[in-house]
Amino acid sequence: MDKAQILIASNRGPVSFSTADDGSLEPRRGGGGLVSGMMSVAGEIDSIWVCAALSDADRRAAAEAPGARLDRSHDLDGMRVHMLDIPAETFRDAYTGVANSTLWFVQHMLYDTPNKPSFGTEFRRTWEGYTAYNEAFAEALLSGAAEGAKVAVQDYHLALVPRILRTRRPDLRIAHFSHTPWAPPEYFRMLPDDIARELLSGMLGADHLGFLSPRWADAFLRCCHEILRADVDFRRRTVEYGSRVVEVGVHALGADEESLRESASDPLVEVRRATLQEAVGDTRLIVRVDRTELSKNIVRGLEAYRELLRTRPEWRGRVTHLAFAYPSRGDVPEYREYTDSVLRTAKEINEEFATAEWTPLILEVNDDYPRSLASFQLADVLLVNPIRDGMNLVAKEGPVLSERDSVLVLSREAGAADELGKHALLVNPYDTVETAEALHRALSMPAEERRRRRERLAEAAVALPPRRWFQDQLRSLG
Ligand code: G6P
Repeated sequence: MDKAQILIASNRGPVSFSTADDGSLEPRRGGGGLVSGMMSVAGEIDSIWVCAALSDADRRAAAEAPGARLDRSHDLDGMRVHMLDIPAETFRDAYTGVANSTLWFVQHMLYDTPNKPSFGTEFRRTWEGYTAYNEAFAEALLSGAAEGAKVAVQDYHLALVPRILRTRRPDLRIAHFSHTPWAPPEYFRMLPDDIARELLSGMLGADHLGFLSPRWADAFLRCCHEILRADVDFRRRTVEYGSRVVEVGVHALGADEESLRESASDPLVEVRRATLQEAVGDTRLIVRVDRTELSKNIVRGLEAYRELLRTRPEWRGRVTHLAFAYPSRGDVPEYREYTDSVLRTAKEINEEFATAEWTPLILEVNDDYPRSLASFQLADVLLVNPIRDGMNLVAKEGPVLSERDSVLVLSREAGAADELGKHALLVNPYDTVETAEALHRALSMPAEERRRRRERLAEAAVALPPRRWFQDQLRSLG
């Protein structure tokens, strides 16, 4: 591999492949802040993105052109993408076993603790996969990094990478960024002691550790203090560990206004909008858009809507709830069960309230991005009520595209509440009565107040564009 000055590593890469009818590979660019942020520097400096091959087509692409330079026709601005073909079992243990079924659950505090978790021999086996997966990433980064290169490692999948890099290549400047919340030590230490320490000390191999909210950064510092007994300066946000001082920084991430508006100008958005408009008629519209993800709290959101219809009968026949709950992580049994309870609750609501002329709730489970964008335009109320969320970009993208001054009902437990809290209606995500009241307040809000709040939300939402977010992280490496 030719060496690069800037490297990024993440499980899911900026591009995925599918096989076309004629057998050729078709690349598709992914979305999200990381991709836009990275692309903002990709054209200017030689860079490599190391990621995992996630499908058979990805694996073929990895084999045919390792470290392929994806050209402008793939809209990737000449960045080299190096896809790792990780053995299937190792990948499953690392991604589904440790990352999604354990670390995600810990950071979002999702366990039903009388029953789970239980860290037995099966967990120890998957942990070996996680270690091997982290080593494979580290190897690829080591062979691609020029002398003194900057390496930006992303998320809980790759917590061990910074330390491996540091040990083998002290010349590198290493950042690690967490896109999730971080759990307080009282919760984090449910992990076996040696594993908790390995995760923390693995990350502390970096020069700079980034988080989306001061809450997550401070929880991480407390874990370092209480679990590693490291010397922590809470005011400066530094950790002294071994003989090094590691900086911890907060880098919030905003909506990518330019790419959002560009996506929204796709004619398909207009088509979806007309279809939605016809389905909801002249009723007011409460919208939610999520992956069907345990932390997104979809069931309690539906219960809050049911509570609204029960306690405020004046809204019956005058409001529609559009809930988009897109498939996610079907390999994890808890996600499959959760999807069933979302479907069940939705069905109950329609059975309780639907009339010949009115469908109170429209739940869609097939992923359709243009339709999501159209729903942002049409929403009167946007409901974002996660029980815990690193940031939540729906809360930021909705107000940018809103054409009806939608009111944001937002969980106080989302990182986005830091920037949007003043202009949204904040709720305790566990409290369905309070959430129902907030929906009522949002639906009843005078036009002038809606307009004012929506303008401020949109302003705050784009104040930290992905370009700046990513460049801040690079800058923090000197
Ligand atoms: C969300 C989280 C990220 C995480 C990603 C993984 O976007 O905010 O922290 O890396 O999900 O999702 P995936 O579908 O790749 O498991």
